[in-house]
Amino acid sequence: MPAPHATPRHYLRFRDFSRKEYEYLFARTRWIKDRYKRYQRYWPLEDRTLAMIFEKESTRTRLSFEAGMHQLGGAAIFLSTRDSQLGRGEPVEDAARVISRMCDIVMIRTFEQETIDRFARNSRVPVINGLTNEYHPCQILADIYTFRERRGSIAGKTVAWIGDSNNVCNTWLQAAEVFGFNMHVSTPPGYEKGLEKGAGKYRHFADPLKAARGAHLVTTDVWTSMGFEAENRRRKKAFAGWQVNAQLMRTARKDALFMHCLPAHRGEEVTAEVIDGPQSVVWDEAENRLHVQKALLEFLLLGKVKG
Ligand code: CP
Ligand code: NVA
Repeated sequence: MPAPHATPRHYLRFRDFSRKEYEYLFARTRWIKDRYKRYQRYWPLEDRTLAMIFEKESTRTRLSFEAGMHQLGGAAIFLSTRDSQLGRGEPVEDAARVISRMCDIVMIRTFEQETIDRFARNSRVPVINGLTNEYHPCQILADIYTFRERRGSIAGKTVAWIGDSNNVCNTWLQAAEVFGFNMHVSTPPGYEKGLEKGAGKYRHFADPLKAARGAHLVTTDVWTSMGFEAENRRRKKAFAGWQVNAQLMRTARKDALFMHCLPAHRGEEVTAEVIDGPQSVVWDEAENRLHVQKALLEFLLLGKVKG
């Protein structure tokens, strides 16, 4: 079957797609989600296979890609560094050449962005970033879809990021460029260094309460991301004042939403009162990973379809 895109399109960074393409993806997500909720079979990817490579742990990403691929009529294969030759030093270029001759699309969760970039350069088929140290584009795809479901367009709104300048934060910064919303970022002293150089416009606040002021959405993430566990004790001290709690939520807009990509640590980056409270949309956010990624798989494999 001919490929819909002349050369494979990859999804490695949030800015890989234009705003127009995101509008298309969100419309497709709504359509795919509606059908799924009505138990209507939709199998556009029959006989297609997704390879999922995990070099770090996952619950949501594995589940949403694996279930999503099955629900679209295709198959998903799980590979980890623990049980494949990748863990024994096979060059990533060789792995890319082999895997992309046997599968139709690949999702990778790894450490350095450089690894996934090298894989993509040697792949015959589309490659999706399922999280790197630098970015987590599928997460923000789901988050913006979730915001739109609740509040409409995110353009011109204000998003407050409280905490670490990590992969999720830097993906938000790219999304702000694409969609034209304001980012308020507050990190502990020294941790602003992780903010992507050359990222679009954002305002940095030393005081997290000031960052949250007037925000339509408040969001955060763990203080210690995967791969940084050795810094855990130091980070717990440094981030103690960067908790999303009821006081911080009160400085945001009354109708502000709270998001967290999960997994969360109640009592660290967020209180139970906030994450389990009425402003939190974290369960919708997690569920929407499934729906947006099904639209993403369909787009990368079939191009634009009518439905
Ligand atoms: N949010 C997210 O990507 O979760 P997992 O690490 O469980 O995949
Ligand atoms: N920033 C976190 C996100 C987990 C989904 C990490 O990289 O561990």
